[in-house]
Amino acid sequence: MYSRILGTGGYLPEQVRTNADLERMVETSDEWIIERTGIKERRIASEQETAAYMGTEAAKKALESARLQPADLDAVICATTSSQYAFPSCACEIAGALGLAGVPAFDVAAACSGFSYAYAIAHAMIMSGQAQKILVVGADRISHACNPQDRTTIILFGDGAGAAIVGASDEQGTLAVHLSSDAKRAPLLTLPHPVRGRPSSESDYLYMKGNEVFKQAVVILAGLVNQTLEKAGMSDADLDFLVPHQANLRIITATARKLHLDMSRVIVTLDKQGNTSSASVPLALDEGIRSGRIQRGHVLLLESFGGGFTWGSALIRY
Ligand code: UT7
Repeated sequence: MYSRILGTGGYLPEQVRTNADLERMVETSDEWIIERTGIKERRIASEQETAAYMGTEAAKKALESARLQPADLDAVICATTSSQYAFPSCACEIAGALGLAGVPAFDVAAACSGFSYAYAIAHAMIMSGQAQKILVVGADRISHACNPQDRTTIILFGDGAGAAIVGASDEQGTLAVHLSSDAKRAPLLTLPHPVRGRPSSESDYLYMKGNEVFKQAVVILAGLVNQTLEKAGMSDADLDFLVPHQANLRIITATARKLHLDMSRVIVTLDKQGNTSSASVPLALDEGIRSGRIQRGHVLLLESFGGGFTWGSALIRY
């Protein structure tokens, strides 16, 4: 028995925040943002577009693409660090909204690496025979946790949700997963949640020492992609697509270079979405599939890096 992806879906809020909008909010420029990050616009969730709401919408699309009903699911796992409630979990809210009861539902907190963690747990549950079909969601509204006056963070983050249905299969979809963390540099990227998602004082906002995090991300991701390929006994020549976490185009190109991958074989969504934290990898995966670039049989390397620090990957034959 193996695990593989049966379907994917995504949800993005309607409201667009462009670089021109940011020029009116903080001292920055379209040119600076594009040159340093690659981001042109991002989506901003309304009050009603909670992590659970966005996650549910992404889940419905993933179910549709897998030709499944909510009742077919055996478990719901949601990666998020910006859900409205500590409890009920975002996964329980999503399960409830889908009319699903009697199955395990729980959240995973690993910041921007959340989807990689949730995917690896789903894979393990399937391999151990605990479940046959699992809804794995990444849903975040981190833009609301950024200080609107802090030009170093407000330009980066957008909101959204992505979802995948991971199912048992006699075809090997998941070839390798790798998860890790190291709290040594945790203070470089933090988000307190005294009032989950509703900052009321300066110290409640997301904090990031961007250039330090950048350097760490490049080094850690270079090691991660090699370790993941090694685990599966594969090399970069076997890869069809890199599906990276969408934090910064310069980090993505550095990882692609390390893998000797042309940028035409890298899924990039951050120009239109910014960094959507745990939603970024499943949204990029969904975009790659829906655009027709990713086809059944392609070998994909999903990777992510985030606060904690945490990092994770999945090598997949789609
Ligand atoms: O997803 C979780 C992991 N997160 C990441 O991987 C993000 C990693 N970090 C980054 O993407 C980049 O470090 C940033 C985009 C956040 C910043 O880019 P950078 O090239 O590392 O810039 P910097 O922080 O070294 O700042 C360079 C200059 C500074 O000015 P001085 O001190 O040289 O005069 C900043 O104050 O750019 C200034 N600056 C800005 N200027 C215009 C910082 N933010 C802005 C801004 N607009 N928005």
